[in-house]
Amino acid sequence: MSIRNAIIPAAGFGTRFLPATRTIPKVMLPVLNQPAIQFSVREAAQAGIERIVFVISRGQEATNDYFQPVPALERALEARGDERLLNEMREISSMVKTGFVYQNEQLGLGHAVLMAKDEIGDEPFAVFLPDDIFYGDSPAIADLIGVFSKYGSSVIAVKQVPDESVPSLGIIDPEPLDGSVSRINGMVEKPRLEDAPSNLAIVGRYVLTPEVFAALEQARPGAIGEIQLTDAIEAVRAEQGAYAYEVTGTHFDVGTPLGMLKASVYAALKREDMSVELKEWLKSTLDA
Ligand code: G1P
Repeated sequence: MSIRNAIIPAAGFGTRFLPATRTIPKVMLPVLNQPAIQFSVREAAQAGIERIVFVISRGQEATNDYFQPVPALERALEARGDERLLNEMREISSMVKTGFVYQNEQLGLGHAVLMAKDEIGDEPFAVFLPDDIFYGDSPAIADLIGVFSKYGSSVIAVKQVPDESVPSLGIIDPEPLDGSVSRINGMVEKPRLEDAPSNLAIVGRYVLTPEVFAALEQARPGAIGEIQLTDAIEAVRAEQGAYAYEVTGTHFDVGTPLGMLKASVYAALKREDMSVELKEWLKSTLDA
């Protein structure tokens, strides 16, 4: 089964990145030279997703503008004969269709997803949390869509995390099925370590059935006083079941300045034109 639509919650003040985020949406901050959100959008496009709905705050329209054509820039690159950059710019605006809805109050991730309900309608959809980015052979969401096609109910990306990360993430109670796939027997948002059913944490990629919207409409504030997506998926799981897929690619949480820096260094180390100089500089800096 193909998944046509995705939601990318991208509102919020980006307080951990202030002052940079006073006027620039957090998801537009670069990992090396690409806005963080481009990783999710490209991953979606590669998996055949056709349309993305960004959930933004007022003033963050730059996030959606970024994925529209910039004719003046294209003309300038054409005049300069810079085919490579021109093609790269055209690709950004042709990967997927995009649109946006506003989230006027910061009531939590579940609330953000609910804002896009009318844009999605009554069909399964993907959710990308743009702070989670993956480097790997196959985009994580494509694997999740594969699992969804087989089992027909919600699928969530998970990965093993150290104990200290457990209280700040969504944690699942897994029943291993085959390979990387588990049946979820329960999930809890930001548990205390002693209450956590495992160390398998949700990492920002979901394929969800539309019944999740009804559960979000009923949802009450959960962990940290916010309407949690995890709670709504858990409510639907009781009737439809839910599955977890353990992702493999190299994962970064770019929701903090240090995570963003690590992802940028990783990206630069992968680039032929930068890696030699960067390694030399890192070595000499560490030795100093
Ligand atoms: C959100 C989800 C959580 C998930 C995390 C992954 O939490 O609610 O289940 O583990 O993203 O990045 P947040 O980071 O928004 O608090």
